Parts: sequence; structure tokens; C-alpha cells
Amino acid sequence: MPSEPIKTSELITNIGELMTQDPEHRVLRDAALVLEGERISWIGPAAQAPAADAVTDAAGQAVLPGWVDSHNHLVFGGDRTAEFEARMSGQSYAAGGIAVTVGATRESSDAQLESLARQRVVEAVSQGTTYLESKTGYGLDVEHERRSARIAARVADEVTFLGAHLVPAGWDADEYTDLVCGPMLAAVRPWVSWADVFCERGAFDEAQSRRVLAACQAAGLGLRVHGNQLGPGPGVRLAVEFGAASVDHLNYLEDGDVAALAGTWGAGAPAGELPGTGLGTVATCLPACDLSTRQPLAPARRLLDAGVPVALAANCNPGTSFTTSMPYCVTTAVLQMGLSVHEAVRAATWGGALALRRHVGEDLDGHRAVGSIAVGHRADLQLLAAPSATHLAYRPGVPLTRAVWRAGRQVVG
Ligand code: NIG
Repeated sequence: MPSEPIKTSELITNIGELMTQDPEHRVLRDAALVLEGERISWIGPAAQAPAADAVTDAAGQAVLPGWVDSHNHLVFGGDRTAEFEARMSGQSYAAGGIAVTVGATRESSDAQLESLARQRVVEAVSQGTTYLESKTGYGLDVEHERRSARIAARVADEVTFLGAHLVPAGWDADEYTDLVCGPMLAAVRPWVSWADVFCERGAFDEAQSRRVLAACQAAGLGLRVHGNQLGPGPGVRLAVEFGAASVDHLNYLEDGDVAALAGTWGAGAPAGELPGTGLGTVATCLPACDLSTRQPLAPARRLLDAGVPVALAANCNPGTSFTTSMPYCVTTAVLQMGLSVHEAVRAATWGGALALRRHVGEDLDGHRAVGSIAVGHRADLQLLAAPSATHLAYRPGVPLTRAVWRAGRQVVG
């Protein structure tokens, strides 16, 4: 029986496919849902939908959770078109280009940086992203890292301190690591809840990365690691050792790395599905970056098969992945990384939320869960111009985002 009308509510009905990404992995046909304020208050068959103050007819098209994009570097000036062109002509990616962006970023005004970062967020939202992380990392001195953190906090949902992105020219690596672990960390602390380190040849070695992670953990930050991007190395092992929420890139994994990540989730299915159980380290794969740098694609299939939860993220930055497009990442994960459509959408929604520890509500600061469609979760949704999520891979490159709701408010469409 239809229930009583709900005040200030919106009914989205006639949904052809509702991919919930909830713990039961439900995909409902001929479904409806009700948004009340910022939350989802009802989900069920369209025929049983309650009345509401406003009605949106999905016309048989698909509804999914909004994308949760858990890895980006949005605060930067300039671009690196020339470096990209050189790479497409055969030059390999080396992290040295970060210094070019550091220069352009330092030369930009606060207003310019904020405006550019906002434009990138708007671009992401227009493609279905409803929750997004950004790192610092193109300031690389105390003043400019503080500024990046402050600007990132104005435009992104989660901010990560990445002072350990590259050792700037003229610095001794160990002395710069001291700066990151001391004055720089103190300067950014009011704006950040996460810390990251680029643990890679040419960036920070194992000992330096360990120092950064230990200092940031002691300061109360959650941890993430850029690891195993340009070659095998200690990134994954360090992430596991420190209980990082995520290790990102993962292009060069050894069997021991996969086993170590799987070990953080215990045997069998990912424990991360169950609120309150011990959470391990999510494997965040960045397909747009892999293609743009011509690295081997991260082994997302192998990781999932080993029981490691996978997230997909856009990694918007001017060096390795100048895109905000989560649909592109999902399409690539299906067409080239061996994921099913359901797995790829899950990695780009629930997986990203898990990597940011936002997959359940009632967490540290009382946020609502994001990344899945369930009663009580934040109403972050996207309506596709397609009857099923399969069309994301079946019609690659076609803009299929018809409407987007963020915290219950329609922001696109
Ligand atoms: O996540 N790998 C390190 N950091 C960025 C790229 C930085 C750059 O080249 O500007 C990334 O891909």
C-alpha cells in the first residue's frame, strides 16, 4: 500500500534500473526512491511508491549512486601539454614534471587557483561525481602548501596533505622530509584530514616515506600512499604496515603485494562491507593515468579476485591524468581491465567511499554514508540517459549523465 506523503520530499520514479551498490548489491527494476532533505528515505518498487512533494520521471532510465572520486590533485596552475605531447611521441613519464607545475602554481594568485579548482569540480559534477577528494602537493613549501590546503578545503569534500610529492630543487631529501614532518604538517593541519606520500624512485624512498607516514599518523591524519606506480617498490608494504586507508596507482605489483593487501581484509569477502568490522587498505586504480603515462594498467581484476576492495578514481592533475571523468574510468575498467560493469560502478562509487572511509554513516564527524543507495544514506545520485549502466561501456565516450543530485539537491539536469 502507498504510504503517507512525506513533507519536502522528491520522488524519483519509473527507474528502469536502480543499481544500489548497497551491501546486498541490489539491482532493482521498475523502481522508485524518495529523497527527503539531504537523505534517501525510501526505496522500492515504483508501483508502491509513496506520494511526495515533487516527482521526477526517470522514463525507464538507469539511476546509480553519484561517483565518489577518491584521488585528485585539483589545486594547480598551468598545464603540461608539451610534456604530454613528448610522452605521446615516446618519452617516458618521470615525476620531474611536478616541479613545472609547482612553479606555475606558486605564480598563480589565490583567486586564480580557487577558480581553476572550482571549474574542475564543476566539470566532475557534470559527469556524475558527487563526492571528491583533493590533495595538496604543488606548493612544496610551507606557505604554498598551506595555501593549497586552504583552497582545497573550499572546493573538495576531503583534503589530503601531499607535501611529500617531490623533493624540490635545491633541497636535501632528508632535510625536506624534516620540513614536511614538522613545520609544513603543522601549517596545513587545520584543513586536512588525510596525508599521502609519493613513495617512488625519484620521489621519496622507503625510510623517508616511513617518516612522513609516522609523523602524519601521530598528528591524527588518516593515511594514503602513492605506491608502485613506476616500478616495483615498498609503497604497498608501507601502506599495509601503517594501516593506510588506500594505496593508489599499483601498476607494478608482486605476488607478495597482492597477498599483503588481501591480508588486511582477512580471508574471503571484503570485510569492508560490514560497518564496524576491521577495515583494510583499499587498492585504488587510476586507469586514466595509466593510459596517459603508458604504464601497464593496474591489475584490478587480480586484486578483486584476491579479495581486495578496489576503488577507481580520476586522479585529475596536469601531469599524468588531466581528466575529471569518472565515466571514462569506468568504461576503461570494463573494456580494458576485465571488470564487469557492476564491479566497475561499484569501484567508482562504494569503493571510493570505502577508500575515504565514508561508506558508512555515523563516522568520526557524523557524515552520512556516500557511494551507495540505501535508506539513510546521503542522497547522491545520477540519472543516466540510458536504460542501464551497461551503456557506460557499451557506448564509450558518449556523455550519458542526464541529471545529478548531491545531498538531495539537483545540481545537474
Ligand atoms: O598521482 N604520481 C604522483 N603524482 C601525480 C602526478 C603528478 C604530476 O606529474 O604532476 C599522480 O599521478
